[in-house]
Amino acid sequence: MKNLLRIVQRTCSGDDVTVSRRKFLTMSSAMLAAPVLPACSGPSVIPTNGIPRSAYDDNSTAEQVTERIDLSGKIVVVTGCNSGIGYETMRVLALRGAHVIGTGRTMKKAIAACESVAGETTPMQLELSDFDSVSACAKSIANIDAPIDVLVCNAGMYGGDRELVNGVEKQFAVNHLGHFLLVNLLLERLFLAQQGRVVVVSSRAAYGSAPETGILFDDLSMQNRYSAGLAYGHSKLANALFSLELARRLEGTRVTSNALHPGVIRTRIVRHESFLLRTGFSLLSKIAGKSVEEGAATSCFVASHPSLSTTSGRYFEDCNAVTVVGDSHMHDTEQAARLWQESERLTREYLPPTSARINTR
Ligand SMILES: NC(=O)c1ccc[n+]([C@@H]2O[C@H](COP(=O)([O-])OP(=O)(O)OC[C@H]3O[C@@H](n4cnc5c(N)ncnc54)[C@H](OP(=O)(O)O)[C@@H]3O)[C@@H](O)[C@H]2O)c1
Repeated sequence: MKNLLRIVQRTCSGDDVTVSRRKFLTMSSAMLAAPVLPACSGPSVIPTNGIPRSAYDDNSTAEQVTERIDLSGKIVVVTGCNSGIGYETMRVLALRGAHVIGTGRTMKKAIAACESVAGETTPMQLELSDFDSVSACAKSIANIDAPIDVLVCNAGMYGGDRELVNGVEKQFAVNHLGHFLLVNLLLERLFLAQQGRVVVVSSRAAYGSAPETGILFDDLSMQNRYSAGLAYGHSKLANALFSLELARRLEGTRVTSNALHPGVIRTRIVRHESFLLRTGFSLLSKIAGKSVEEGAATSCFVASHPSLSTTSGRYFEDCNAVTVVGDSHMHDTEQAARLWQESERLTREYLPPTSARINTR
């Protein structure tokens, strides 16, 4: 069984009555990794109305979903290209002919990653918690003086002790605000593309472990209530709502914005966590998660598939648009609009005048 959430749900709901060695391992690791995972009960997903099912699912790899897609002449930016899902996303999009600009927190990491894949790549330095670095990266990309066809906001962090960046909780700053700024700084380039795409790598944690009230507008530093899992869910909800509001603002343009959950994949995402949690996550993702090749499939599909050229404001899992049903803020347009305003306020010193070009309420 590939779907981690289903395993955990079955494990939690006690559907499995016989306990084989494999099940025992799955159950134990699920318990160890529980803080990283969405809750066992609560919202679930159904296919989104009006968007045809694709030919792909949770077993598809990034190479399979991009087979026969020629990305020659396209420029794609992938943040966090030196590890996990971002590395595979860069590798496969470059394999299909795109010129991939891959970012790493240090130039050394970005160069090493870019040099290790076939095809045309350009390394760039980007530290998302540092808005000067985000601005400098956007300037370097703009210096290439060409349209940007796709911007994959992939880089992300999970956990650690509570830390603040410019007064807000660090995961919110890195996973959401840094990308919010980068996208706004590069929108002008995306408008120049024949069909620009923003792809935001969110997570099921956005509806599985975000605060019940959604974005904590009155406590973005999370001083009232902090746990690594809650802060991660909060930042991933911000990813999904950012994409939703961006899509609304981009209506009538050739640029689209979509968010996605890549699956549960054994990458370095939980490296800031305890040994126990890392072990649990590692075991569970090995037994029941996706491979990195499968984990990059939804990103590559949303970034490149011709069938999605006008699809915008959607959320994808396993290479298909899904709607979250039940108690969540995933499709909360009011929170999305408010988050945009708040994010503009928090990054205003760095925002370009071009942000005024996209439709405001
Ligand atoms: N793995 C999963 O099960 C899973 C599930 C749902 C969603 N996701 C999402 O998928 C995306 C990719 O994660 P992954 O699993 O591939 O994890 P990963 O292997 O840890 O890769 C994360 C990437 O983000 C970069 N990054 C971290 N903090 C950064 C910062 N402050 N500034 C710039 N870059 C930063 C990392 O750089 P360094 O290597 O230098 O730290 C690395 O390149 C993330 O957005 C994550 O939230 C993953």
